[in-house]
Amino acid sequence: MSRQVLTVTMNPALDVNSKAGEVVTDQKVRCEKPVYDPGGGGINVARVLKRLKIGADAKCVVGGVTGDLLKSLLKQEKINFLPVEIEQATRESISIIDNKTDKQYRFVFPGPQLEKNIWKRILSDVEDTIEDYEFVVASGSLPPGVPDDFYSRLAEIVLKNDKKYILDTSGDALYEGIKSGASYIKPNEEEFDELMNRSEAENRDELIDQLSDNGVENIIHTLGKDGTMLYNREGKQKFTPPEIEVNSSIGAGDSFVGGLVAGLTKDLKIEDAVYFGVASAASTLQSPGTSLCDSDEVKKIHAKLSGNEISL
Ligand SMILES: Nc1ncnc2c1ncn2[C@@H]1O[C@H](COP(=O)(O)OP(=O)(O)OP(=O)(O)O)[C@@H](O)[C@H]1O
Ligand SMILES: [Mg+2]
Repeated sequence: MSRQVLTVTMNPALDVNSKAGEVVTDQKVRCEKPVYDPGGGGINVARVLKRLKIGADAKCVVGGVTGDLLKSLLKQEKINFLPVEIEQATRESISIIDNKTDKQYRFVFPGPQLEKNIWKRILSDVEDTIEDYEFVVASGSLPPGVPDDFYSRLAEIVLKNDKKYILDTSGDALYEGIKSGASYIKPNEEEFDELMNRSEAENRDELIDQLSDNGVENIIHTLGKDGTMLYNREGKQKFTPPEIEVNSSIGAGDSFVGGLVAGLTKDLKIEDAVYFGVASAASTLQSPGTSLCDSDEVKKIHAKLSGNEISL
């Protein structure tokens, strides 16, 4: 059986998570035993899809001892990953919860420099195997060395083969990444505002028109606890999230994308697929620490929100 979804992660991370009694300056902050998780947008989307029982391949750049640990964590989770090996070590991302204030500190590094032959190879690998997939999800930041228009080069390959392209990134990678169009983009508040500032649009509707004219078919603007807006040629629609107790906000955005794509692979109507994204994000937010959504909970939340039952 061909797998339906390919995720692409150019800048994965080994996520190192811990807690400290109190985070202070100028002194050693003693932390609890760390928990290691695979990280990076596309990798997390593949992990969410796995929980939702959707087969996905995760293409990712890995290197060094941190890359080895990342691969063994992915193996443990039975994620079908397609590594592109480099010499330099995969970056680590560090997240520390201050037990005193319950606030979380997140430190993120740029990632190793990628040579041209590596990012070009990823484009040609995708081109060579595109017939195996219906959906390509490009998610996360680009490491140094990769051109800002990398995601639009990837879009060209995916869209010319009549496959669906989902892009979730930020900054220059997003601004340059939408220039060849996309089936879905998922900017959060900050990313949407950045697009707005960089475009010549005078207001939100003008930006949506510009994006649509440019071949971006669906803009899914997530607004954290304020919900989600869907904009496309048919108009706009608002999705309200369920009232939940947030345990940890790690992975909400990636869970949203995973849920959305899971819904799309089930041929759900776009509104229903967006609700599936909302439900997946809610389930992840309710779960403790770095754990992701639970499929039974996602189905329950989705049924409540949309009135439709989905089998996974
Ligand atoms: N407090 C909340 N209650 C319910 N749902 C929430 C809450 N916060 C976020 N969500 C859900 O998660 C979705 C994605 O959240 P958000 O807009 O913060 O994405 P993001 O910034 O990409 O996330 P991340 O920080 O993981 O990258 C929202 O559209 C919403 O459905
Ligand atoms: Mg995000």
